[in-house]
Amino acid sequence: MKPVRKAIIPAAGLGTRFLPATKALAKEMLPIVDTPTIEYIVREAIASGIEDIVVVDGKSKRSIEDHFDSNPELENNLREKNKLELLKVVEETTDINMYFIRQSHPKGLGDAILTAKDFIGDEPFVVLLGDDLMQDEVPLTKQLIERYHETGESTLAVLEVPHDQVSEYGVIDPAAKVKEDGLYRVKSFVEKPQPEDAPSDLAIIGRYLLTPEIFEELEQTKPGKGGEIQLTDAIDSLNNRQHVYAHEFKGDRYDIGSKIGFLETNIEFGLKHPQTKDQLRAYIKELAAKL
Ligand code: G1P
Repeated sequence: MKPVRKAIIPAAGLGTRFLPATKALAKEMLPIVDTPTIEYIVREAIASGIEDIVVVDGKSKRSIEDHFDSNPELENNLREKNKLELLKVVEETTDINMYFIRQSHPKGLGDAILTAKDFIGDEPFVVLLGDDLMQDEVPLTKQLIERYHETGESTLAVLEVPHDQVSEYGVIDPAAKVKEDGLYRVKSFVEKPQPEDAPSDLAIIGRYLLTPEIFEELEQTKPGKGGEIQLTDAIDSLNNRQHVYAHEFKGDRYDIGSKIGFLETNIEFGLKHPQTKDQLRAYIKELAAKL
């Protein structure tokens, strides 16, 4: 069995939900407290044993490349001022093997993954979408890699969502629970069904472990929902020649793709951050008393 060493992070979206902030700035650079959202995603990949990460980006995304590059002027300044903790934080992000591919004409998530075909080659790999932060004792990406070690086949992460929200996600039609701790064999995968057509409330939540055969399926995939090449459709085809399993996530998920989710996540992370937690807690109590 080949080791899982590579990850794809698609980041070519326009970020229209966060305009005007995203007019000139990549939405992946918006911070949760003091750290850009994409850095949390990259850290999850690294904590799961991933060695090489490719970001598929688009226009206005230069700031992402700069963030993971060295910045000698800043580093020298921090060194001179003896701000060694900050220096460590800044340097950590430059030690990661990051690669960038530009998707010039975005045609959907499936198309973004296909642009990384040559980078991935003939190996299993993971995909991490940036709209969700996941927290658990074992990082979710690592949980998927462990599933791959059990089955040798593709697995994606799912979570039960309220029925009226299924149309925002890819949804699975589970065939059977093959492991009591939440591993499903799947009949089919459907992209953003209407609630009345949804085969279940188990939604795909943006972490995938895929075998390289997915690229052959993506090459054959016609535009689907919204006129875009959908990864979910290619996964559904792959499931006809190999199994694609669904792994139920039991940890905490923070939706940072919507304004309200982004604000809530900032508050929750702020209540855990050593530099802000006490003052923020006091402030929220004071504010709540006034509401
Ligand atoms: C994408 C996928 C969808 C998945 C979702 C998870 O949709 O197409 O299957 O459930 O991510 O966040 P998007 O949110 O990019 O519209």
